[in-house]
Amino acid sequence: MTSPGRTLHTPVCIIGAGPSGLLLSRLLRLNGVDSVVLERRTRDHVEKRVRAGLLEQGTVEVLRDAGVGERLDREALVHEGFEWRLDGAVHRMPFTELCGASVWMYGQQEVVKDLLDARDGEPGLHFGVEDVRIASVTADGGRVVCTIDGQLTELTCDFIAACDGFHGVGRQAVPAGELVGHEVTHPFAWLGVLTAAPPLSPELIYAVGDRGFALQSMRSPQVSRLYLSVPPGEGVDDRSDEQIWRELDLRLTGGQGTLPTGRILERVMVPLRSFVAEPFQYRRLFLVGDAAHIVPPSAAKGLNMAVADARHLAEALTDWYAHGRREALDGYSATAVPRAWQGQQFSASMTTLMHAAPDESVFDRRLRRARFERLLSSTAEATAFAEQYTGIARR
Ligand code: APR
Ligand code: PHB
Repeated sequence: MTSPGRTLHTPVCIIGAGPSGLLLSRLLRLNGVDSVVLERRTRDHVEKRVRAGLLEQGTVEVLRDAGVGERLDREALVHEGFEWRLDGAVHRMPFTELCGASVWMYGQQEVVKDLLDARDGEPGLHFGVEDVRIASVTADGGRVVCTIDGQLTELTCDFIAACDGFHGVGRQAVPAGELVGHEVTHPFAWLGVLTAAPPLSPELIYAVGDRGFALQSMRSPQVSRLYLSVPPGEGVDDRSDEQIWRELDLRLTGGQGTLPTGRILERVMVPLRSFVAEPFQYRRLFLVGDAAHIVPPSAAKGLNMAVADARHLAEALTDWYAHGRREALDGYSATAVPRAWQGQQFSASMTTLMHAAPDESVFDRRLRRARFERLLSSTAEATAFAEQYTGIARR
C-alpha cells in the first residue's frame, strides 16, 4: 500500500542505476555535488545484468579517476590486438602497435558492482522505485514523482539526468517537437552466450565467412563470451546448446572441433539497432547513455559512449555548482551529440563490414571484401580503424 506523500529536494535527480547513472552520481559526489538515484529494478538484478565487456582506454581512465579502478586494474585482461578470421584466413589487427592505445576486457556488470561498492552506506540510492514520472521540467528545475519503499515521493531538483536506458521515461518527457529520434534497425541480430569455457584464443576473434559472423570474446581466462549473427526474428531458445556450439565451431575454426565448450550460463538475443536522439537536453533535463543513443554491439561502444556522456555531464554540473558557470551545461548537447555520431559511424561501419545483408548482391559482397583488403594492406587505414576501435579518436 502506498503511504501518504512527502516532498524531498535534491540538486540532481538521476533516473536509472546503470553505468551512466551510477558513474554520474559517483563523479558528482567526488566533486561535492549531491544527487539522488532512482532505480526501478532490484540491486541484485542490476548487478547481475550481463552486457558488453570491452572498455576503451579512456573509459578505464575515467573509472580510475572515479576511484573505482582498483579491481579493474587487478582483474581485467588488457588486450593489444585481435584477430580477423576471413573465410578461415587469420589476420591480426595489432591496434596498440598502430595507435598506442589498448582495451580492457571487464564485464559491464563488474563496473556496476564496483560503482555500487564504492558508494556502500551512502544515502540517496533507491532500488525498486515504482512509477517514476517526470512531472515537470522548467528553465529552473524539475519535479519527479515516484514511489520509494511504498511511500509516494515528490522530488524537487535543480536538474534531472535521464540515465534510464533506451526504454526509460526520461526521453519520453521531452515534448513532441523538441526532440527528434534517428533510428536504423540492421537486418540481423546477435545470439550471445556466456559460457564456463576458456576462450579459443587469448585475443578476440572476429570471424566473417559464408556461414555468417561469429565473435569470440571473454570475461576471464575461464569464462568466454561468444556471439553468432542470426536472422532477425529468431528466438533466443530456438537453437539447442549443441546447435549453437556446432555453428560457433564452424564459423570460428572451420569445423575443426577445437572450440572449447562448457556449460552455457546465459543466452541473450541482441538486436542490431542504432538510435540517436537530438538534442540531448531539454531545459533542465539531460539525456545520458542509452537514453540518448544506442549502438549495435558490433564495436562494443555502448558502455564507452555512456561513460563519456556521464563524465561530461558531471564536469558541466560541477562547473555550475562550484563556479557558477553555465557554459558547459548549455553546451552539453552540442558536444555530446557529435561525439555520439562518431560512435554510431564506427559501429555502423563495423556492422556493415562484418555482416552480409540477407539480400546482399554480389557487387556489395565484393565491396565488403575490398574494404577488408584495404584495412589489411594499408597502415593508414588500419591505424584509423585502431584509433576508433580503442576510442582515442573520439576523445
Ligand atoms: N525508472 C527507474 N529506473 C529505470 C526506468 C524507470 N522508469 N527505466 C529504466 N530504468 C533503469 C533500468 O532498470 C536500468 O538499470 O535505468 C537503468 C538504465 O541502465 P542501462 O540500460 O544499462 O543504460 P546506461 O546506464 O545508459 O548504460 C549503457 O548499457 O545497454 C548497455 O550497451 C549499453 O553498455 C551500454 C550501457
Ligand atoms: C563482448 O565481449 O561482449 C564484446 C567484445 C567486442 C565486441 C562486442 C562485444 O566487438
